[in-house]
Amino acid sequence: MWKTNRVTKRFRLDVPLVQGPMGGGYSTPELAARVSEAGALGSLGAYTLSPSELRAAVIALRERTARTFAVNLWVPRADEDRAPPDSDTWKGALAKTNAFRSELGLPASAAPERAAKLFEAQVEVLLELAPPVFSFTFGVPSADVLSAFRARGTALVGTATNVAEARALAAAGVDAIVASGADAGGHRGLFIGELPDALIGTMSLVPLICDAVSVPVIAAGGITDGRGIAAALTLGADAVQLGTAFIAAEQSGASEEHRAALVGEAGFHTYITRAFSGRPGRALRNRLVEELEADPARILPFPYQNALTMPIRRAAVAAARTDLQSLWAGQAAPLAQRGSTEQVLQRLIEQTERAFTRLTSK
Ligand SMILES: Cc1cc2nc3c(=O)[nH]c(=O)nc-3n(C[C@H](O)[C@H](O)[C@H](O)COP(=O)(O)O)c2cc1C
Repeated sequence: MWKTNRVTKRFRLDVPLVQGPMGGGYSTPELAARVSEAGALGSLGAYTLSPSELRAAVIALRERTARTFAVNLWVPRADEDRAPPDSDTWKGALAKTNAFRSELGLPASAAPERAAKLFEAQVEVLLELAPPVFSFTFGVPSADVLSAFRARGTALVGTATNVAEARALAAAGVDAIVASGADAGGHRGLFIGELPDALIGTMSLVPLICDAVSVPVIAAGGITDGRGIAAALTLGADAVQLGTAFIAAEQSGASEEHRAALVGEAGFHTYITRAFSGRPGRALRNRLVEELEADPARILPFPYQNALTMPIRRAAVAAARTDLQSLWAGQAAPLAQRGSTEQVLQRLIEQTERAFTRLTSK
């Protein structure tokens, strides 16, 4: 009874479950394709991909599945256009990070850097390839971009961290809204208000957004097993999006240490930190987070902090060092279960069945 509703019909799914997009290589085309093939909605987090990488990834996904999948981008925010940090701020940030670099055998950072701005070129590629679903976070793309996708038959899914954002997305005519509660792993995709406005727990946010808009709602954040799925559907969500649960799947792009950390003692200690990218996001607390957060004034704003710490985090993965990786995770990380993508999804479905049976058989 929980498996069919307006979202499953609109997106032609067997179950109202979404594997959340996870940019930075965590949601591989293989992971997304296997989720879609298994009847849920697989998503490719693509915001870091160059136009040619994006094209190759979408083509790879299409070759692996004829079912519905989503491609996700970050909408640029005005604060990304800020000037590079002044020399005192830069020296402060270096003092904090160069020690990590030398520990990992990396040369000292030279000058503030930022990743190339990709959004417009990425949108051009996606308009040409017309994926079944275009999902986005950190804002609302222009009306022109949204109507160009609509004209190509691509469904639109926006992400809201509060009710004002959900109303803005509904007004823009999206097909579904991800209600992203503060329990979620990864960045807080805030675009209206201040950080506290993006820190509403999933249990509160989902019914608030369901009452505020008539567009289907996809609950996300801290939902890592079938009990959470049943609860979110009961709160009024039409579908549930899970990120951390799928990091634990063998086909995710996460490091082996990251997958193991989620389900170990470290999984109980998540933290919202600007340490990795300059934007707040939830991750496991490790040495990199602790040492950078000890002096928050020396954390650069996005995108400069992201560029500054990226080589450290990559080298830490290569060296299998959990203390210096970005171990993104939601608050329910220890509930994740390792296995193949299909096993992860199948267990979630069975647990949801059990949760509903338990409720109705009492
Ligand atoms: C490593 C990681 C990367 C993420 N990247 C994105 C992204 O690029 N775009 C996006 O809309 N959501 C992103 N998310 C959010 C997920 O899609 C999902 O909504 C979230 O993980 C749900 O919370 P949970 O981790 O507690 O399941 C990311 C989450 C994680 C853990």
